[in-house]
Amino acid sequence: MSEINAGILGMGHAYPDGVLTNADLEKIVETSDEWITSRTGIKQRHKAKENEYTSMFGTAAAKQALERAGLEPTDIDIIVCATTTPDQIMPSTGALIQAQIGATNAAGMDIFAACSGFIYGLTMVESMIRTGQIKYALVIGAEVLTKYVDYTDRGTCVIFGDGAGAAVVGPVEAPKGILATKIRSDGRYEEQLYAPGGGTKMGTTHQTIDDGQHFFKMKGNELFKVAVRSMAEISAEMLAKAGYTVDDVAIVIPHQANQRITDAVASRLGVPDEKVYSNIAELGNTSSASIPIAMDECIQSGRIKEGDLVLLTAFGGGVTWGATVIRF
Ligand code: UT7
Repeated sequence: MSEINAGILGMGHAYPDGVLTNADLEKIVETSDEWITSRTGIKQRHKAKENEYTSMFGTAAAKQALERAGLEPTDIDIIVCATTTPDQIMPSTGALIQAQIGATNAAGMDIFAACSGFIYGLTMVESMIRTGQIKYALVIGAEVLTKYVDYTDRGTCVIFGDGAGAAVVGPVEAPKGILATKIRSDGRYEEQLYAPGGGTKMGTTHQTIDDGQHFFKMKGNELFKVAVRSMAEISAEMLAKAGYTVDDVAIVIPHQANQRITDAVASRLGVPDEKVYSNIAELGNTSSASIPIAMDECIQSGRIKEGDLVLLTAFGGGVTWGATVIRF
């Protein structure tokens, strides 16, 4: 009997209609289209309206992924929603999406790993599927980051955007499927990207709100160096574990953090630019949603074809990082 791996059976993505351009940001903070474009590669990002929230986009992406996988919501055993911007503190956004799609046989849960959350989710369900503990999982990255962004802080507000991507993951025959995957974290870097207010350490008070303690705070410059080193190292490690080199990879899909980070990771790995996917100009940094959105765009446009070897890598607040090698 041939070996069973966990593979991608269908994907989907969604984002709000609302768009915030660099020209719009020029009217809000002291910045310029020239600065944002040259330092980040971003030209615009999508922004949720007041009455739009994370599970709405996660649900839209999940429904599309299920349809493309040819499965019913009731076929799903677990919904893992990676998000740092949940609808609310309780219940989990995964459970809310479960109700919205009618996945009555599933467990719903969240993973809190910032921009690496989708790779955390894939890594978790991979072993559950490979060992037969479950059959089908929905792994979702969904974020409404713009509601946690301080629009007086030009260091963060120009970067983040909203959206969601989803993958139905299930059994496939080797040599297809996830061939190597690994996740890491180092909480000593907590203060490089964090939102201090609103938890049990700094409970919400009028003062914490007035001080903007619930907003994301980022030491972008310091994070930049750790991000490049971590993604390049773990990518090389996972390619070697899978028994391949960068020459075998059809496309690299990095977390869309900053075009300069993507370029630096590609250069360290020795991957030519044309093999590295980027949609940051249109979507900005959508944290855990950026990889599944990019993967779905690649599948829909034919940039990922059956048989292709694909490398995913992410880095985010925590700090967290990871990489996955998949044969489609
Ligand atoms: O998603 C995963 C986690 N996040 C990341 O990985 C993000 C990593 N970091 C970055 O993407 C970049 O560090 C940023 C885009 C956030 C910032 O770019 P940078 O090239 O690292 O700029 P910097 O923070 O070193 O700032 C350089 C200058 C500063 O001015 P002075 O002190 O040199 O006068 C900033 O005040 O640029 C200024 N600056 C801006 N100027 C215009 C910072 N943000 C802006 C802005 N517009 N939006």
